[in-house]
Amino acid sequence: MPVQERRIILKHVDQPDYTTDLDCYLRHGGYEVLRKALQSKPEELCQEVMKSGLRGRGGAGFSSGMKWNFLDRKSGKPIYLICNADESEPGTFKDRQIIHKDPHQLIEGIMVSCFAIQAKQAYIYIRGEFPLGARLLEKALDEARAKNFVGDNILGSGYSCDIVVHRGAGAYICGEETGLIESLEGKRPYPRIKPPFFPAVLGLYQCPTAVNNVETLCNVKHVIDMGGEAFSKIGKPNNTGTRILSVSGHVMKPGYYEFECGAITMGQLIDEVCGGLRPGRELKAIIPGGSSMKVLKAGERYKGKTKDGKEFEWGIRDIPLDFDSMLTAGSMAGSGGIIVMDDSTDMVEALANVNAFYAHESCGQCTPCREGSLWMNKISSRMSHGQARREDADLLESVAGQIAGRTICAFGEACAWPTQSFVDKFRDEFLAKADKSATPEATEPKRAAVPLI
Ligand SMILES: Cc1cc2nc3c(=O)[nH]c(=O)nc-3n(C[C@H](O)[C@H](O)[C@H](O)COP(=O)(O)O)c2cc1C
Ligand code: SF4
Repeated sequence: MPVQERRIILKHVDQPDYTTDLDCYLRHGGYEVLRKALQSKPEELCQEVMKSGLRGRGGAGFSSGMKWNFLDRKSGKPIYLICNADESEPGTFKDRQIIHKDPHQLIEGIMVSCFAIQAKQAYIYIRGEFPLGARLLEKALDEARAKNFVGDNILGSGYSCDIVVHRGAGAYICGEETGLIESLEGKRPYPRIKPPFFPAVLGLYQCPTAVNNVETLCNVKHVIDMGGEAFSKIGKPNNTGTRILSVSGHVMKPGYYEFECGAITMGQLIDEVCGGLRPGRELKAIIPGGSSMKVLKAGERYKGKTKDGKEFEWGIRDIPLDFDSMLTAGSMAGSGGIIVMDDSTDMVEALANVNAFYAHESCGQCTPCREGSLWMNKISSRMSHGQARREDADLLESVAGQIAGRTICAFGEACAWPTQSFVDKFRDEFLAKADKSATPEATEPKRAAVPLI
């Protein structure tokens, strides 16, 4: 049977008659879940989210119910909700589709979530490069306010809450939740040290704050609509619901697709959903969850054990697309951005490309990341410009090893993991690059994109 998408979040997206107008949203049952939620007890809604097993779609895959449980409700301070619409991880383009094509779904998800955690003020932090998204959200918010779905005494419930759209200035680190909070407070987005600055306790304006991804908040709407128990049956245990996958790279039909978590394998995604690789090409590597996740190499075998102790072994095409399976394969599902590379890919070039991004985006606050990301960029850039040396592979690994685990925020891992996994898995190519650079007939131009070291 051909693999079928299971569209819950993207149900109406791309339907010919579906628009971003409130009237259209209402015709499709819009804001009914908010109406229902307002008649429930907030703590019951939180319990439903817990029961659903929903995990965050922003990158780490942390339990959304647990995150809300951590909110410091006893402090007496106001509680804030921030919708993380920064979508800055390279290879990820799912939140943008929701914002551009179904903004009211997001607003309803935010309002249901705000009521559940009793936030009186929410923010949508949207990246600076999404001006259209920001305008569409502003328009949708005006419509929602006019119909009293947002604002004072919502639908006569006595509950009031507003949403502000805040545009970032276009920095990757503003996607990291504490950097985002600093930016929202009007400061340079230097991530905060955790502990003590866990947003659930000391977040925006030092108040308890829930930071959730766009797709996560849309899911909350559906959890409350169908009930936590029913939601937990979608997907597989500990990997519930659907996942929107953004697929890019060397496939015939790149794009965004929504599937039940774990319902299809990587091979099915590439060959059946995305129309296969380009003609005559072989699979070489896949980055499975946005550019910061460890690369997977075609031909690798991944071994694991099921809950009942049965041993199994997968190839790259056998990996089921869910959070836990990706961990078994030694990487992470991250933001759901899947980058496919065929055998035409020069892995040194590919790493140089990734490293240029991270060197540009390091906030510079801590030395290992600021200096290390720059060095990795210089080395890989030099290698890809005809000046590779045999010791470069070790040098890259050594630099990356001194970043990961030694920084204030997880950007350290995000920039070290690509280098560590590329060099580890494609060492031959890195060494061959050096040998090629050493030959007199080296064809690559001997020039440096960044100053040489
Ligand atoms: C460097 C870095 C960049 C991040 N960028 C994003 C992003 O663009 N969007 C996002 O939702 N989460 C991003 N995250 C994760 C957030 O810090 C946070 O965990 C997430 O928004 C929580 O939402 P969730 O629980 O719904 O996944 C990033 C994390 C790091 C370390
Ligand atoms: S790890 Fe990098 S991005 Fe994060 S705080 Fe340190 S310098 Fe900034």
